[in-house]
Amino acid sequence: MDKARKIRQRDDFMETRLAWSKIFNHPIPKHANEVTYTFGGMIIVLGSLQLITGVILQQFYIPHSEFPGAYESVSKLSENSILLFVRNLHYWGAQILLVIALLHMARVFIAGAYKKPREIQWLAGLGLLILLFSFSYTGTVLKWDQEGVEGLAHQIGIAQIAGPLGFFLTQDFAPSVSLLTRMYGFHVTLLPIILVPLLGLHLILIRLNGISSPKILRDRNLVSSNEENVRFVTHIKRMLAYGSVVALIAIIISIFLPAPLYMRGIEGIEVSKPPWYLLWLYPLENIFGIKAIAVTSGIIILLLAAVPLADRIEITDPIKRKRMIVAMFSLILIFVFLLISGSLSPAIQHHS
Ligand code: HEM
Repeated sequence: MDKARKIRQRDDFMETRLAWSKIFNHPIPKHANEVTYTFGGMIIVLGSLQLITGVILQQFYIPHSEFPGAYESVSKLSENSILLFVRNLHYWGAQILLVIALLHMARVFIAGAYKKPREIQWLAGLGLLILLFSFSYTGTVLKWDQEGVEGLAHQIGIAQIAGPLGFFLTQDFAPSVSLLTRMYGFHVTLLPIILVPLLGLHLILIRLNGISSPKILRDRNLVSSNEENVRFVTHIKRMLAYGSVVALIAIIISIFLPAPLYMRGIEGIEVSKPPWYLLWLYPLENIFGIKAIAVTSGIIILLLAAVPLADRIEITDPIKRKRMIVAMFSLILIFVFLLISGSLSPAIQHHS
């Protein structure tokens, strides 16, 4: 049987049983293959790598705080070069993933892609962003070094401020189970259980609403109103190609730079600063105390959730949405300013 016939037969087989063409062959606008439109796909590729490295690490991790426990199991990984590399990759993959998620959100914002009919897509995306931060935070606690112990102490402080709403996140909720063990449960079970349907919703809505076609592209003749379509499968190939490039960057970094692991955590002291994705909160905590972390994070989440409500006019061209774009860049500037102050600030023992 000649090759072309074999391929046709295989395609027929898949088409009849799995409606292959409906999943992979539907037309999408050509601009969806631009690199900025593949950030979401890159997150999926990196996320898959996180899943694989995470499952490997799980085989060697001891999820409790007694000695020998979590900290000892993590530091023992360094004795084996392959496991050390896997740990590094899990850590650096997570950092790159967070950066790309923020870039993805910025792209969506600039393109005005949160507007009708994509408001729920934006909210599902915001939920995913909160989950990504939660994965990184709980992962930091799991290594049970000084940084992790202090992270958990902050969690307890914030949960106490939140009263009944935060009770679930304190030791008192399940006095006989170490809170570290519960954080491990969050990291490997609860967060993934929430992530899967939310990601499913996010992706299904992209299929149902289609990808946005920013008016700016049409107005500037960068995309004609009868823009050429390509098959979705070309997008998947692009997404995998760009995703592999970022995965390769994570791999190269992981070969040369070890994931941080500080001394075994001592409870009750505060000598560390938070990791970069929370470091911008540090100067606020220095001035206003631990409450500032809860209040500022809450305000930012509410502001982001309100974006599709605050900007409902049909125009998506960023040049004609000056107020929203200025608001976005102001927020980024404040974020960078706080990040720099946080990194310059000495480590301080806070008394909440
Ligand atoms: C786990 C994190 C996320 C994943 C895996 C993900 C995945 C994707 C993918 C694959 C796309 C298709 C096109 C593209 O890549 O631009 C997309 C589009 C979109 N995403 Fe996300 N996303 C995530 C987080 C977010 C966040 C944080 C937001 C904003 C709060 C967001 C809002 C949107 C919106 C509104 C669209 C439609 C864009 C358009 O039609 O132009 N997503 N997402």
